[in-house]
Amino acid sequence: MKHYLSGRLNVNLVGLRLANPTMLASGILGYSAETLESIAESGAGAVVTKSVGLKPQKGYANPTVVQANCGLINAMGLPNSGIDEFVNEIRLAKTVLHAPLVVSVFGFSEEEYATVAKKAAEVGADAIELNVSCPHVKETGSEIGQNPEILAKVVWNVKAAVDKPVFVKLSPNVTDIADIAESAVKAGADALTAINTVKAIAIDTETFMPILSNKRGGLSGPAIKPIAVRCVYDIYERVKVPIIGCGGITNWRDAIEFLLAGASAIQIGTAIAIKGCNVFKTITHGMEAYLKRKGFKSVNEIVGLSHHS
Ligand code: FUM
Repeated sequence: MKHYLSGRLNVNLVGLRLANPTMLASGILGYSAETLESIAESGAGAVVTKSVGLKPQKGYANPTVVQANCGLINAMGLPNSGIDEFVNEIRLAKTVLHAPLVVSVFGFSEEEYATVAKKAAEVGADAIELNVSCPHVKETGSEIGQNPEILAKVVWNVKAAVDKPVFVKLSPNVTDIADIAESAVKAGADALTAINTVKAIAIDTETFMPILSNKRGGLSGPAIKPIAVRCVYDIYERVKVPIIGCGGITNWRDAIEFLLAGASAIQIGTAIAIKGCNVFKTITHGMEAYLKRKGFKSVNEIVGLSHHS
């Protein structure tokens, strides 16, 4: 792995070697090998693709994204080309990427999740992230991730089908995210990503109607950061697997906050839309300077520190 450097920011995430703990979150810019590579070149320690399913899916009609105070509300409807087409993009990405490639998958049954994950792993995905948390597509996403028994079946089936690490991306739209985390881990999850978007709606005061074509969407960006930090904090107290923090990270201080709460790595999504791809470098440089200033030799030393002091 050409860009792996020994240093303060190196992370070993369930066997994946990341030059730094930042990752591209699923859903933004994750469609093509070319964009994944340009994100990695911008400084991401790993990249996660847009979620892919068994069959091609068009997604919802426009509008699919609306700006909110301190964030975005989106409802795209999991548009994707289907795994049989997407394997070409995974193969291509593997020839150009110098950072681990995580493929986000979804399905409408446990068998579908397993089939898609297996196909992605066979062509080179370094890890699989299960989207069991999209808050608005029927019969998948959070309809699976909100139910501990159904979630466990999905995780178990995927683990039986692939020999790569499996991350489970959790929904905040539940009563107790730590209960759900526990169920995913008992079924074999190697790591947990927390969190996906928070269920939300925006209404046009002129037309009196919801703005998104799907009406309901998911809120991301700085507005949800304190919710996401609390979720990571709760999960860290309950399970032992690594947690990947996600939700509203826009600067190095946000990233450090997630690590102190218990995250071993972090994902960045909406901030790219606000600040551009340079955000990875500004965040990692800021993290490096912070660790140096505080006297830490490795970023791993601060994971979960807020629970001990
Ligand atoms: O609409 C979407 O494609 C969103 C997916 C997600 O939030 O996981």
